[in-house]
Amino acid sequence: RTVYVNGEYLPEAEAKVSVFDRGFLFADGVYEVTSVLGGKLLDFEGHAKRLERSLAELDMPSPISMEDLLEVHRELVRRNDLDEGMIYLQITRGAAGDRDFVFPDPEVTPPTIVLFTQSKTLADVPAAKTGIKVISIDDIRWGRRDIKTVQLLYPSMGKMMAKAAGADDAWMVEDGEVTEGTSNNAYIVKDGKIITRHLGSEILHGITRAAVLRFAREAQMVVEERAFTIEEAKEADEAFVTSASSFVMPVVSVDGVSLGDGMPGPVAARLREIYLDESR
Ligand code: PDD
Repeated sequence: RTVYVNGEYLPEAEAKVSVFDRGFLFADGVYEVTSVLGGKLLDFEGHAKRLERSLAELDMPSPISMEDLLEVHRELVRRNDLDEGMIYLQITRGAAGDRDFVFPDPEVTPPTIVLFTQSKTLADVPAAKTGIKVISIDDIRWGRRDIKTVQLLYPSMGKMMAKAAGADDAWMVEDGEVTEGTSNNAYIVKDGKIITRHLGSEILHGITRAAVLRFAREAQMVVEERAFTIEEAKEADEAFVTSASSFVMPVVSVDGVSLGDGMPGPVAARLREIYLDESR
């Protein structure tokens, strides 16, 4: 695989980042995941805009213009002959000579930028037909979940807790209300209404979320952007999650409680179909 590191395209075995990199030492970095379908980038502009916002919120300079970033994405798709999968992008505050909590001067310490591709089937996956099971866990993450930082230890632990419980993923709960999934936005459907948490610093502002809500409204579906409780989720007619890597994924059980008839619901199925149609 060819990867991109600080302006160079390199075979993955030759790509290197310093042991002093602040991404490695402090999780001082941000990332984006953009999906590729039929060799085409999905929603690049949305991901680029969110990246700029994440960088600005952390006072981190961008090492690349958004135009050049698009070119790097396209070049990696070409060089790796990527038909379906993801492009991972990470920017960290770089490698200062020592470990120091204080941010280094960006003029002296440039950011580190890394991109790589990951080939993966995204559209035609069995889980889209069976749905996934989620469990609820406490949301103990920091308070700026709207910034897409590389601090993913707790979400990783959440997936492990789900696995241990015989489920596929976890929904995080704060004050009784669902914030989001470990790596996706969470939705329930009740009496035909699509309910998903409003934007704020408690959740990541999903790019797929924005697209799916737009498609839902265009299809005359009713959308309510508000917090919902985990109890409401257990009584929902259906549920689903959205993310760049899962598109729209039906959820068929919450904490062991089956939703509807235990099969993916019609709203989730329709939204997945619309999303795929629009992306192809
Ligand atoms: N995760 N919420 C969280 C906590 C996420 O990590 C993600 C994305 C989303 C959905 O955002 P988007 O629709 O822009 O992908 C919501 C990516 C895919 C990941 O970490 O792999």
